[in-house]
Amino acid sequence: MGCPGAGKGTQSAKLKETWGLKHISTGDVLRGEMAAGTQIGKQVAALINHGNLVPDELMIAMLENIIASTDQGIILDGFPRTVAQAQALDAMMSRLGREISAVVMIDLPEAEVVKRLSTRRLCKKCGKPAATTTQPTCECGGELYVRADDAPESVKHRLEVYRAQTLPVKNFYANSGKYVEINGNQTPQQVFEDICKVLKKVK
Ligand code: AP5
Ligand code: MG
Repeated sequence: MGCPGAGKGTQSAKLKETWGLKHISTGDVLRGEMAAGTQIGKQVAALINHGNLVPDELMIAMLENIIASTDQGIILDGFPRTVAQAQALDAMMSRLGREISAVVMIDLPEAEVVKRLSTRRLCKKCGKPAATTTQPTCECGGELYVRADDAPESVKHRLEVYRAQTLPVKNFYANSGKYVEINGNQTPQQVFEDICKVLKKVK
């Protein structure tokens, strides 16, 4: 978990490599539907581009299909994002005979979020963020683009939505014995090491 720009995608990519986990970013799944022009993609495009959440029912059904399709360990990046989603996740995990090992919250001050997202450019080919703000193309040679919801007005709204709808999920997990907060305002490597310490304990 974590606010927009907290580093969920960056850390998930590192965890996927080191721990052999499957990475499910609900944002990436939805952007994939938009790029493919599917019915779901058309339904969610305006919501995502303006920084609003996609309806719970759609997200919950989508997640259950994805989780049910694999026995591999999974990193959920961007889900649950509402208390209703967290409750549904608990129910689907027990239906599927699976368990949540840890709920990792990456904390980042909002000023840092705005700084990071105002300069983020992503690669059309490999999906990774560009390492610098000036390079013309990605290290892999792919073309760089700016996400529509990284426009300043959308970022502001995403943060409001995060405070109102996602922060309450923190209370849902606070007494579960699985909830851990990590300081996201460090180098990506330092954040990664902090997360690995948590995962080593629950492994
Ligand atoms: P989603 O794609 O999940 O977006 P988000 O939560 O707003 O988060 P981001 O992907 O922007 O940031 P991140 O935390 O992954 O950070 P990153 O690693 O890229 O969701 C998009 C939309 O989809 C939602 O608004 C909603 O509409 C919909 N949606 C998705 N899930 C949903 C759900 N469950 N329910 C309903 N709707 C849903 O890093 C950001 C930048 O910072 C990068 O440039 C990176 O290089 C840099 N960076 C990363 N770490 C560091 C560091 N330690 N130091 C310096 N720079 C860093
Ligand atoms: Mg992300």
